[in-house]
Amino acid sequence: MPIYHTLGQIPAKRHTVFRKPDGALYAEELVSTEGFSSMYSLVYHTHPPTIVKELGTPYSVEPKIAREKHLRHTSLLGFNIKPQKDYLESRKIVLVNSDLQISLAAPTESMTTYFYKNSQADEVLFIHKGSGTLKTGFGKIYFKYGDYIVVPRGTIYQIEFNDADNRLFIIESFSPIHFPKRYQNKYGQLMEHAPFCERDIVRPTDLETFDEAGDFKVLIKKQGLIYPYTYGTHPFDFIGWDGYHYPWAFSIHNFEPITGRVHQPPPVHQTFEAHNFVICSFVPRKYDYHPQAIPAPYNHSNIDSDEVLYYVDGDFMSRKSVVQGQITLHPGGIPHGPHPGTVEKSIGKEKTEELAVMIDPFKPLMLTEDAISIEDENYHKSWQHNIE
Ligand SMILES: [Fe+2]
Repeated sequence: MPIYHTLGQIPAKRHTVFRKPDGALYAEELVSTEGFSSMYSLVYHTHPPTIVKELGTPYSVEPKIAREKHLRHTSLLGFNIKPQKDYLESRKIVLVNSDLQISLAAPTESMTTYFYKNSQADEVLFIHKGSGTLKTGFGKIYFKYGDYIVVPRGTIYQIEFNDADNRLFIIESFSPIHFPKRYQNKYGQLMEHAPFCERDIVRPTDLETFDEAGDFKVLIKKQGLIYPYTYGTHPFDFIGWDGYHYPWAFSIHNFEPITGRVHQPPPVHQTFEAHNFVICSFVPRKYDYHPQAIPAPYNHSNIDSDEVLYYVDGDFMSRKSVVQGQITLHPGGIPHGPHPGTVEKSIGKEKTEELAVMIDPFKPLMLTEDAISIEDENYHKSWQHNIE
């Protein structure tokens, strides 16, 4: 996150004596995602973050691959994923490769009896339905429909939902999530041509320090396993912190679309990037205004990447019978394009209300058993029409 932020109390100079009112030292910790080579924060704990009381038995949450190799346009009906009470159990991994994992989740209850830390991936939680609070040691993020919440790996969190009707689209990235380099100047500031700016970034607020001893269960995800740890002090014991590494949020509704006289290519929708994949936002916008413009996209042969679209809301201009929560996967290697009739229908249209998240991974995605269970098996034939 290229914005410096600080909350709570920190010493005037890093790595110096910083004492509690009782004279004991606060415990400094450096947190980062790429060692000492990139963004980091310095955190000041009330107690050292190392007081382990018990180690539980690890268990696997590794995705079960059902279709490793394929060359088939695929559609998954995401809202057919069944709601489940527990947040972690509700997360169903559907598409994976060695750079990212994509999950769908419909949790109905807040996380109250444990804390969670993903130590293998940054998480992007896209809130399709629901609202609530992401609680962390860095402070709180209040989220709602349309928010992307970016949680850097290693961040311990609890998620609290305001009600039981929640739908999340989750991306776990094995490399750090950041904004496209081309949106930033050499100092990291978002430039005028970027479709959003720093004011749109929601940073943590309301830091609360929990100076508590006891048994605190933290479920830590690493290499496809969950390791149950019991710590002797509350994970949210930060008295203060500063730096560039912290959870944050950006609303898809604050993405300002870039439009033109003729069809603009997918990179204008880019929102985030990571190693070997990008995340884009398709938002309501005015259509192309050349008098002869065709707003529907041209057929394209994405040889170098797969293309995943997650449909959030509104009619999607290039697709027929799309439903909320649907995922389409157009694998690299064969062309795809607008559905029959949609090109003609798009001519002369002035605007679209479509809302969708797109992920373009450069390595092929595999489908899991959970993906196959919600597959629309005939999707690959959906471009057929009567050729006269
Ligand atoms: Fe496409």
